[in-house]
Amino acid sequence: MTAGRPPSASELTLSQIMDQHDTNLMGTVHGGQVLNLIDSVAGVVAARHSDGPAVTAVMDETAFLRAVRVGDVVHVAARITWAGRSSMEVAVKVTADRWDRAVPPTTVATSHLVMVAVDDDGKPRIVPALLPETDADRRAFRQAEIRREHRLTLRAALAEDENFPS
Ligand SMILES: CC(C)(COP(=O)(O)OP(=O)(O)OC[C@H]1O[C@@H](n2cnc3c(N)ncnc32)[C@H](O)[C@@H]1OP(=O)(O)O)[C@@H](O)C(=O)NCCC(=O)NCCS
Repeated sequence: MTAGRPPSASELTLSQIMDQHDTNLMGTVHGGQVLNLIDSVAGVVAARHSDGPAVTAVMDETAFLRAVRVGDVVHVAARITWAGRSSMEVAVKVTADRWDRAVPPTTVATSHLVMVAVDDDGKPRIVPALLPETDADRRAFRQAEIRREHRLTLRAALAEDENFPS
């Protein structure tokens, strides 16, 4: 296995034109459709970093900042921010170009996901280390460590409840 990889080696941006099949009853794009894109692109990035399949363990801190509309060109940009033994955090930013380009590209959603690399039996497997290259990479790594600690603390605290998960 490789000793480590920078975030730039696996990053990916997927662009898609949203159409009427993606809408909710309000006529704007369904949040689940955006989540699907976020999850899919994060999965590819995690698979690229880890040279194999990865499953979504946690999808948290997803913020929907603006509505996505039919005709918008949506760009889903994903990048690894942290890697541990078998898990990786992927940060995803979704921007939209409005169809008429009357306004500049708008950030419509952001999300952080924990992806876990798995073997043929679905068990966690070891991933390459992440080698931050830039100051922004190093800042993202430190922030990801804070989120990880928060997630693990929350998970441990909830696990003390014998009814968890309810
Ligand atoms: C994700 C999965 C493989 C983890 O299996 P597990 O036996 O619980 O494995 P572990 O407890 O050893 O955790 C594996 C890694 O995930 C991390 N992890 C698991 N749950 C986490 C959480 N809530 N927050 C942060 N990290 C978490 C662990 O810290 C560990 O990271 P590390 O190896 O880098 O230190 C397993 O829960 C699973 O298969 N879940 C279903 C995934 C799926 O199908 N997703 C699609 C949604 S339908």
